Amino acid sequence: METDENMLDIATYASEAAEHRHYLHAHPEPSFEEWGTQRYITDRLHSLGLNPLPIAGTGVTATVVGTRGSANGKVLLLRADIDALRLTEETDLPFASQNEGVMHACGHDGHTGTLLAVAHWLVDHRDQFGGTVKLLFQPAEEITPGGAEPCVKAGVLQNPNVTFVFGVHLWNILDFGKVGLRAGPLLAEADRFELTVTGKGAHAATPHLGADPIVAAAQIITALQTIVSRETNPLDSRVVTIGTIDGGSAFNIIPQSVHMTGTLRALSREDAELGAASLRRIVTHTAEALGTTAQVDYEFGYPPVINSRESVAFLHPFLQQAAGEGNIVEPEISMGGEDFAYYLQQVPGVFVFVGTRNPAKGLTAPHHNPKFTFDEDIFPLAVSLFVAVVRGYLS
Ligand code: NI
Repeated sequence: METDENMLDIATYASEAAEHRHYLHAHPEPSFEEWGTQRYITDRLHSLGLNPLPIAGTGVTATVVGTRGSANGKVLLLRADIDALRLTEETDLPFASQNEGVMHACGHDGHTGTLLAVAHWLVDHRDQFGGTVKLLFQPAEEITPGGAEPCVKAGVLQNPNVTFVFGVHLWNILDFGKVGLRAGPLLAEADRFELTVTGKGAHAATPHLGADPIVAAAQIITALQTIVSRETNPLDSRVVTIGTIDGGSAFNIIPQSVHMTGTLRALSREDAELGAASLRRIVTHTAEALGTTAQVDYEFGYPPVINSRESVAFLHPFLQQAAGEGNIVEPEISMGGEDFAYYLQQVPGVFVFVGTRNPAKGLTAPHHNPKFTFDEDIFPLAVSLFVAVVRGYLS
């Protein structure tokens, strides 16, 4: 069990995490433009005596070797994402964004602050773990293709070879202090598509002389929902959303074409591929039935985040010890995407949600909302979870 002394110890690192978060929150940078963030992280790691290296452009990686027992060949990758969103902040936080139009509205400032504090703990407590901890401050989680795949391609899982990976997401959907641990899918595959329906422009008063892409687009949008309602097992989950629709220039003109973008989400790559095939079929043939043609550009996005049963069972007792009895819960699956999936495709590991929703303090704004922030009292638990995984896995 954690001794009280250990918990006191954690409190000092947790307050460092909050300080880092304040700086990062005030200086947010969008995906793959995190140069100042990279400099901040690199400076902090240097000051701890570590040897940080850039990765995938704006990312940072560093290793900390433990001294407990003989080196056992285990390498634990701890990952935090570091990017912000193109969004204008509407909080009145004293450390609100100083970069107009950019905001840490997903909690990645908290992830980065936590991992910097954990880096300090690791340097101070090398005698409490064996093997190697690899820290990864990953750029560009918020866009596709994002930063995880380039980090994997750049060899973050090699030299030394990573044997287990752990990451968290602060989660305003989950109550404060709960840890959402789930075997199986936790986040969805998130694909993106573009549709162009081309007809034949005409005067609005003479539809018989043209081929109306707006009517075709309307039927396509409606028909696409049958992928969810008629082609998905009712006990399974898929989402089809058209996010933009763009066509026409005047009330009395039938336009030449309509352009749409959207996303299809599923809990496995197989389901996403089936969905993509259905989407192509429905779009192409609906357009054809109405005398128009359609072009489909489909881009497979992040794979789903899937925690293996064995890894979850292994970590459960360590996370429970850090979070306290009754605080490990099975969270609702999110149909959002997360590129942590790329690490889990290569090595065993676990991704968890850390609950930060606190209605008593009015902290309930959803992620990606201009009023988003989270309860900073979560930092002791966030740091403890990483420490528990280090001590549990690298014992
Ligand atoms: Ni996020």
